[in-house]
Amino acid sequence: MSNRERATPSGGAHGKRRVLVCCALPYTNAVPHVGNIVGSHLPADIFARYCRLKGYETVFVGGADENGTPTEVAAIELKVTPKRLTDVFYAVHKSIYDWFEISYDNFSRTSLPVHHKTTQELFLKIYEKGYVTKGVMRLPYCENDKLFLADRYVVGKCPVCGYDFARGDQCENCATLLEPEQLIDPKCKIDGSVPVFRDSDNLFLELEKLQPELEAWISGQRHWRKQVSSLALAWIKEGLRRRSITRDLKWGVPVPLEGFEDKIFYVWFDAPIGYISSTKEWAERTGQPERWKDFWMDPETRVYNFLGKDNIPFHTIFWPGMLMANGGLNLPYDVVGLQYCNYEGDKISKSRNWGIFCEKVVESGLDPDIWRYYLTYLIPETKDSEFKWDDFQSRVNNELVAAIGNFVHRTLTFASNFLEGAVRKMELAPDDRRLEEDVKRHAAEADQALQEARLKDALRSVLQIATLGNEYFQKNQPWALIKTDRDACARVIYCCVGICGVLAVAMAPFLPGASRKVARTLGMADALSWEGGLSFSLPDVRLSGKPEILFKKIDDAEVARLRATVTRSSEPAEFFR
Ligand code: 2FM
Ligand code: ZN
Repeated sequence: MSNRERATPSGGAHGKRRVLVCCALPYTNAVPHVGNIVGSHLPADIFARYCRLKGYETVFVGGADENGTPTEVAAIELKVTPKRLTDVFYAVHKSIYDWFEISYDNFSRTSLPVHHKTTQELFLKIYEKGYVTKGVMRLPYCENDKLFLADRYVVGKCPVCGYDFARGDQCENCATLLEPEQLIDPKCKIDGSVPVFRDSDNLFLELEKLQPELEAWISGQRHWRKQVSSLALAWIKEGLRRRSITRDLKWGVPVPLEGFEDKIFYVWFDAPIGYISSTKEWAERTGQPERWKDFWMDPETRVYNFLGKDNIPFHTIFWPGMLMANGGLNLPYDVVGLQYCNYEGDKISKSRNWGIFCEKVVESGLDPDIWRYYLTYLIPETKDSEFKWDDFQSRVNNELVAAIGNFVHRTLTFASNFLEGAVRKMELAPDDRRLEEDVKRHAAEADQALQEARLKDALRSVLQIATLGNEYFQKNQPWALIKTDRDACARVIYCCVGICGVLAVAMAPFLPGASRKVARTLGMADALSWEGGLSFSLPDVRLSGKPEILFKKIDDAEVARLRATVTRSSEPAEFFR
């Protein structure tokens, strides 16, 4: 039994497991590309949908990370106010995630009063407990832009690995957390000028004080992915240093402390608090304002964080450190740190127009499930992945259409045309029982993989179920049996319809639209359930309506059309006309 399996107890003390799924809050200073969907929103969504199917008390939160330098700089570049910038991009982000059917229970904004209040309260508590100290920082200031250039808007050589384009907050190449002053040959990222360094009073989170507790906690997370815990432990080994949590900017959460009133919190201080304020907003909106506490204060709740690899240090050290300093709030149960998704041999880049851009995907006219299917294969669970058009076409045609779509369609069409849509419960033959066992085995594999957030493996197991169905259909030839042995034919179709029912449930986390269509045709309950829905033997079924084709093959001309549509990113200014 692996460590990941061992860490899966049977349930919480209240009998029903409670899960909070948190997706990293995207900066809303630009439009997301497909790598952003693959790298956090989609995996978090698949996992949240699975938890709901399992009957866990599940809340899935996220939101827009709207504060600090990323917004101020984009606003300068686009000549709009930070408020207008974030209002517009919040709506664009939200509509894209809705289109991909990312089933957020709440998608919040860090500019909301609930977030400001939550951040200030948490700060005051950790300040009073002695985890925040005062100090002077020399910060880069751009004399052209008249702006302190905190974190990512200073670039230079990484003092650790020598990478030439390291950002002031972190080196993308070796993931080391940095301060702008550590960069060799720093430059302003907005206009390329050399920044001057000015002294500024700041507040610091005393991470070194938290080091022993953090180390013990990280070492105990035996179920984390290896790449996440080894990265975290490597930073611990280097020794944690205090880290500044304030900035000399205007757009963000004001610091509620005498002498610091003209500063705001560092964007990475307030952003993860967004998970809490988004849960509070959800609780308020659903008329149960105190319920956020079940998710944050009951230690039985499991908090899952989904995020890209550059976010790993913040979610394994900085954010847990803040939570430990505060006390009484749940630490992450799992930090699902994902790698990057590239495009046709290179990194996705908006400025180089290299990649697939979501605002164009939503106009592509292709079923979101088709994108979700291929994008699930690209979830970079253990290493970087790569979007390739020929792979996209062959996986969609040979797997999604040929295995899942074809099996469901031929079964339901046959039942509709030859059995008048009435599928009676039948006694299973020995061969059918073997089939049932095989289907259940693959469903159990999918279940185990989903428990551990191994989403690609889970989808493979779902595909296996459809493949078994196709083989069984082919072997038993119902189109011939209908002429010679109507009862045997009805039994074969009964089994195939049973598999369609299993698929409706098992594919629901990945392909919500297709799952809904199949469930509707089979007259299954609106709220599907993993355990209930995987029973192979359905009662009598009366199909409702004519079965629809789930997915159509994508030919070369369609690939060319799509490629021309989705690979050209919009100019950010287009959103502000
Ligand atoms: O990397 C990013 O896009 C950050 N906005 C992620 C923040 S995650 C969390 F802390 F909110
Ligand atoms: Zn580096």
